[in-house]
Amino acid sequence: MNDITPADSAERRRRVARAIQRRMVAHVAAGGTTDFASGPLENDPAAYTDPARAELERREIFLKVPLVAGLSRAVPRPGDSLLFEEFGQSIVIVRGRDGVLRAFLNMCTHRGTKLVRAGADGTCERRGRMTCPFHAWTFELDGSLVGVPGRQGFEGIDMSRRNLIQVPVAEWNGIVFVRAAAGSDELDIPAYLGAFAPELAQLELADAAPIRSSSLAADCNWKCALDTYGEGYHFATLHASTIGVSHYGNVAVFDDFGPHWRINFPDRRVKALVGLPESEWPEADYGGVHFLFPNTVVVVGSGGPGGAFVRMFRIFPGQTPGTMSCRIEVYALRGVRADGDRAGEFAQDDAESDVTREDYRVAVDGYANLVSAPAGFTVVYGRNELALQSLHRHIARAIGVPL
Ligand code: FES
Ligand SMILES: [Fe+2]
Repeated sequence: MNDITPADSAERRRRVARAIQRRMVAHVAAGGTTDFASGPLENDPAAYTDPARAELERREIFLKVPLVAGLSRAVPRPGDSLLFEEFGQSIVIVRGRDGVLRAFLNMCTHRGTKLVRAGADGTCERRGRMTCPFHAWTFELDGSLVGVPGRQGFEGIDMSRRNLIQVPVAEWNGIVFVRAAAGSDELDIPAYLGAFAPELAQLELADAAPIRSSSLAADCNWKCALDTYGEGYHFATLHASTIGVSHYGNVAVFDDFGPHWRINFPDRRVKALVGLPESEWPEADYGGVHFLFPNTVVVVGSGGPGGAFVRMFRIFPGQTPGTMSCRIEVYALRGVRADGDRAGEFAQDDAESDVTREDYRVAVDGYANLVSAPAGFTVVYGRNELALQSLHRHIARAIGVPL
């Protein structure tokens, strides 16, 4: 359900971008102020290192809230499928002949093996039916069991109860959400997004064309990695030769949407606007770091001439508190454009990859130290690290452990 037209979205993006730009200019004009929380916040290292907390997060957050599985553009036609394997059981999301997306445990109902595997490039080939590689039980795209070789061997078994096991999936404005728990309720995405819904809808992700994807894993808690996306306090030091050059450090414009948020870091071009009347400002490109609780970061940035690109990071806890993985997907917003633009996107992407490496290195180092931190030590999120404060407060609330 999307009653917002592209023209509405473009107009809305212009309006929001201008409002953010105004706040950035004010911070830069004031000599480099930033949005602040009401006070600093301390957190127990156990929030990162305790296996009991990790289990609570798994149960109370990751198995309950809708998780982003990808974008609709990855599964445009009947028979297209998408695997969601980063958390919990392997799930296959497949578009039916009726155009409806359904999700199933990627588990054959004969003896349990995986029905669908991704190719080397991570994508699944289009298929008319799903046939198990073990004994060739065959399932329709709607999950019903339609073929059993040597069927007489299963006499006495109620084969009508051997359809694939469904899990909740929803498609909303080009984003595919799943809940990684069979037998749970339908997803209510508008309720989950709340006031963040129009901010995401205006991105027009339904038209975002995939450019490339990759994965990385690191030996740290998933939140150590996630924390690096929510503040620009580290730009001047950790990213001294990349973002630290192009952007102001420790200057941020933060917008709170319940557990979700958006944060913007001004680039140095903002300085030219200080003292100029707003009527002389160039139009602001919409951008920002969008966070969907609990684990998805959608970074919208200008891709140089021709438009904008999106990098989506989905961060998942591993089997232990000290392991995590991240899926990174890069999309061209509003379709793929000329080759020149794509070259710009790749260059941008390579630069961003350097930044990601720098971030993950400190996340891993920090985690190793937190594991053996002395009793009574706390980590502290400054007033300037308000996105991190929001993240950890919402996690604590969701798992019922006070900060
Ligand atoms: S396990 Fe799938 S057909 Fe046997
Ligand atoms: Fe960083």
